[in-house]
Amino acid sequence: MAFLSFPDGRRISDPSEIRTILDPVGVRLERWPIPADKELIALLALERPVPEESERLLAFLEPRFEQLRTTLGYQSRDLVSLSPSLPGLEALLERFLSCHTHDDDEIRYVIEGEGIFGFVLPDDSQVELTVLAGDYINVPRGAEHWFRLTPSRRIKAVRYFTSREGWVPLYTGRPVLSFREGTRI
Ligand SMILES: [Fe+2]
Repeated sequence: MAFLSFPDGRRISDPSEIRTILDPVGVRLERWPIPADKELIALLALERPVPEESERLLAFLEPRFEQLRTTLGYQSRDLVSLSPSLPGLEALLERFLSCHTHDDDEIRYVIEGEGIFGFVLPDDSQVELTVLAGDYINVPRGAEHWFRLTPSRRIKAVRYFTSREGWVPLYTGRPVLSFREGTRI
């Protein structure tokens, strides 16, 4: 389950407290449990699934996509699978380490591994949200944020799109604070 970190090392893991802090930014966080299926678990364990394996994996999660398609008009989804063995991983991550916005919502359903989204709050303070398997996050268009991996450098997430065009980083130039890496909770 997701937890929120502050630059001084404080952490919050209570979902309602996290929602209260992120509400003013418009970030939505939900729990979408991963279906307990043996084949799905095996597919999730693959470090670098080939396209056919990715499609089989996405098929298990299709009801979620249908829900987003019919309620919010989402048109497509794909699987992003990052791991240390992915060629060009660091260069890819570099694009999202700085504060940026998008012209479209950034929606991610984390299904394996973990990642960190950083946000700027209305008082200009900064927080980082570590998302884990089963966390669904919607970062609204225009919200300043950044993304990085945890030391495990491994995540699988479903990305949902209304259009591909809206999902490029627009850098804001705001420096990101240094966050103390604490122990996992
Ligand atoms: Fe982003």
